[in-house]
Amino acid sequence: MSSIESVMTETRIFAPHEAFKQAATVSGIEAYENLCNLAEQDYTGFWADLANAEIDWHKPFTEILDESTPPFYRWFYDGELNASYNCLDRHLASRGDKTAIIFEADDGTSTHISYKALHQRVCRFANALKKQGVGLGDRVVIYLPMSVEAVVAMQACARIGAIHSVVFGGFSAKSLHERITDVGAKLVITADEGMRGGKAVALKSAVDESLTMGGCDAVEKVIVYRRTGGKTAWNESKDLWWHELEAVESDYCEPTWVNAEHPLFILYTSGSTGKPKGVQHSTAGYLLGAILSLKWVFDHKATDIFWCTADVGWITGHSYVAYGPLALGGTQVVFEGIPTYPDAGRFWQMIEKHKVSVFYTAPTAIRSLIKLGGNLPNNYDLSSLRLLGTVGEPINPEAWMWYHTVVGKERCPIADTWWQTETGSHMIAPLPGAIAAKPGSCTLPLPGIMADVVNEDGSAVSGTEGGLLVIKKPFPSLLRTIWNDPDRFQRTYFPNTLPGYYLAGDSAHRDADGYFWIMGRIDDVLNVSGHRLGTMEIESALVANPLVAEAAIVGKPHDIKGESIVAYVVLKGERPEGEAAKKIVADLRDWVAKEIGPIAKPDEIRFGDNLPKTRSGKIMRRLLRSLAKGEEITSDISTLDNPAILEQLKQPVS
Ligand code: PRX
Repeated sequence: MSSIESVMTETRIFAPHEAFKQAATVSGIEAYENLCNLAEQDYTGFWADLANAEIDWHKPFTEILDESTPPFYRWFYDGELNASYNCLDRHLASRGDKTAIIFEADDGTSTHISYKALHQRVCRFANALKKQGVGLGDRVVIYLPMSVEAVVAMQACARIGAIHSVVFGGFSAKSLHERITDVGAKLVITADEGMRGGKAVALKSAVDESLTMGGCDAVEKVIVYRRTGGKTAWNESKDLWWHELEAVESDYCEPTWVNAEHPLFILYTSGSTGKPKGVQHSTAGYLLGAILSLKWVFDHKATDIFWCTADVGWITGHSYVAYGPLALGGTQVVFEGIPTYPDAGRFWQMIEKHKVSVFYTAPTAIRSLIKLGGNLPNNYDLSSLRLLGTVGEPINPEAWMWYHTVVGKERCPIADTWWQTETGSHMIAPLPGAIAAKPGSCTLPLPGIMADVVNEDGSAVSGTEGGLLVIKKPFPSLLRTIWNDPDRFQRTYFPNTLPGYYLAGDSAHRDADGYFWIMGRIDDVLNVSGHRLGTMEIESALVANPLVAEAAIVGKPHDIKGESIVAYVVLKGERPEGEAAKKIVADLRDWVAKEIGPIAKPDEIRFGDNLPKTRSGKIMRRLLRSLAKGEEITSDISTLDNPAILEQLKQPVS
């Protein structure tokens, strides 16, 4: 049964345990409803009070929301602050010696870094960046492995008002190049290599390669963190060692106070066209979202050991590693490695070792760990856990129940958090001391988030019918624009067909209790192991191969990854068979890994003399999806121009 089907028949409900509820920041459903009512009654006042309470302002704001040029909204826009000050300096007096980060390396060694020490490292590195001429508004690309240095680099940019754009280390040189040029980076920060699962992963060489691809003239320097000591090429005029720069700097760097709307970062994500979108976030609104969601959804406590397993290359690693936990003065685990090294007990062993109390991961990791060792958590002491979270894709109820019973021992609430790169922080998720969970549902919107399900014209759906997931009012942590492309921002997220609502790009329905159930994307975006990939992006990569004439990508339900990637390819020459076909499949998979990154490699490639098209030339993706699933085509194919093609495309190359 696919996860969507199993979700549709789910009826179990899990109310918070009394003890958890009593101790929770938002305790009981009335407390949640009170917050929602406050937002209903005085929307801007609600957000202004929270922004005043949660953020240390250098210059307090007097203006709350500017709606004069929708959808380019501005929040708290005459206020001034610094994100790094809010994440570090404000904790020094009261908890300077508290551990900010417990870093666990791939090989299992760990180090503790206090707030004082982290502050010092951020200041030193910020001074180093300044010395290299980086200042307010300059863009810095960060291409680093999971490390304390990645957090330091992001915080240092924030400290001096530079805008960082982190590129996930799994992206190829080509993808990195695309982002460096689009964002106009002045400086790139990387490492010689990363370490994952006992293997070194080259990073600096990918930067070198991307800088030779042209169009990167703005990049003046490359700062290299020495992680493994592996051999790297060195360009004397451009390359600088991180440790040499940091060693000579002073321990304090005055924060650059920026306007509330100053872009904190740009993070690229996939959309329905081939070109990734540079999602631009503000400083104050974004930070407020990260803080509030940690308080409300993760019920953050000063004594928590929080662990979000996401890489800083994704939005989850921005909000729940690099900014949120630090803004709250919390202690968090930062993990360099992978869940299956040295074995599939790694997560559980680390929870025991570091006494993790709040654990946040992706359904795909949960599913793969069930498969590799469903009983393994029982070998470890997981009694420190009090709350579990998931993110990135729908969690199928079977995986939810396993997480609940085997990991959470039926004690820990589960927060299934629905949100996006664009929303910056959680939008729909249970406040765990208030809202009963249903396996597979992200439950109810956070206070102040006016989420709904509507028809294509924005009208209300009837009853529990499915429709478009929208957010009806602007909220502080929403993206401000797409870097370099405000028209695309407007078209994509605020289409004319809807009355000013933010269009999330997901379909959903609400059950009789008003709970939200996410059904999937409405656009050509795949969700593979919680990673967002555009079908067009992969198609463009394939078509760029000299052998390929045409390509179409569809998703196919997958037990572990959620979706797998199936590619239908028409070659310029003959349709290959047998060993020749296998060889081309292997070559094309490697090609996509080089063009985009290994995460985008098609799981299956099928060859045809053509693709199924309508008489007007439109590729019939619905048919391709059915073929991928191995379904018999019983629907009407009378509009299909070339029905014989379907036979060819039925079989994967084997
Ligand atoms: O389709 C939804 C899915 O992931 C998309 C956002 O992807 P991205 O911007 O990469 O951010 C992922 C981490 C926030 C959404 O449009 N998605 C995310 N969380 C959930 C989800 N689908 C179902 N349930 C979730 N909890």
